[in-house]
Amino acid sequence: MERVPEPELMNEEEQARAYAEADFEAPHSAFVDLLLRHLPQLPESGVAVDLGCGPGDITFRVARALPGWTIIGVDGAAAMLLHGQEDLMRQSLSERVRLVHAHLPVNALPAAPFDFLFSNSLLHHLAEPMVLWETIRTFGKPGAPVFIMDLARPESREEARRLVEEHSGGEPPILKKDFHNSLLAAYRVEEVEEQLRRSGLPLEVETVSDRHWIAHGRI
Ligand SMILES: C[S@@+](CC[C@H](N)C(=O)[O-])C[C@H]1O[C@@H](n2cnc3c(N)ncnc32)[C@H](O)[C@@H]1O
Repeated sequence: MERVPEPELMNEEEQARAYAEADFEAPHSAFVDLLLRHLPQLPESGVAVDLGCGPGDITFRVARALPGWTIIGVDGAAAMLLHGQEDLMRQSLSERVRLVHAHLPVNALPAAPFDFLFSNSLLHHLAEPMVLWETIRTFGKPGAPVFIMDLARPESREEARRLVEEHSGGEPPILKKDFHNSLLAAYRVEEVEEQLRRSGLPLEVETVSDRHWIAHGRI
């Protein structure tokens, strides 16, 4: 099935609210578990960046899992960051976590270069996927660990519909539509491997579920 791009930024208030209020417990706790399992040698402290952080649920989970770290969450959608900012206050993480409004690609990011770079579900939003890999190359310190997770495009629209029903059957229609569109916009593992070859980044790609892949390593 051909890729069907979706808009880059999730800037509509209704969409941002539905996303911020959704229950992502299963995939987001899996993200943190996989990150810790694949990068067991992370130092005790440093400055990390979460690229395309949305309302920050993963940013905050990683901050709690890595209590010595400062984390910068970056997103281009003000509507998403507004929800993230409220949650950041509630979670008392504002001394170690900062959310920054920036539409990638950019020439500068606060606190760069970073000791660790991670991202969940940004790549499939990007019209030009090399923006993610070039951002990592530009803003990562040499040798910095990297952990990326995203959706993989299924073989067919029928398979995409089946995945939506299986994994978000009980969610509001706007979220199910978003998830469906995201599956159609996602890159396949072999496309990600080709992007990495072009970028020269030495990351390893693995399929980790019926809908997710991860890329990890040091740059
Ligand atoms: C599916 S959400 C993922 C949010 C978060 N990482 C999570 O896993 O919950 C993708 C996010 O990437 C942001 N985004 C898309 N393209 C972007 C770009 N070029 N620069 C910055 N943010 C971008 C969108 O606004 C959206 O908040």
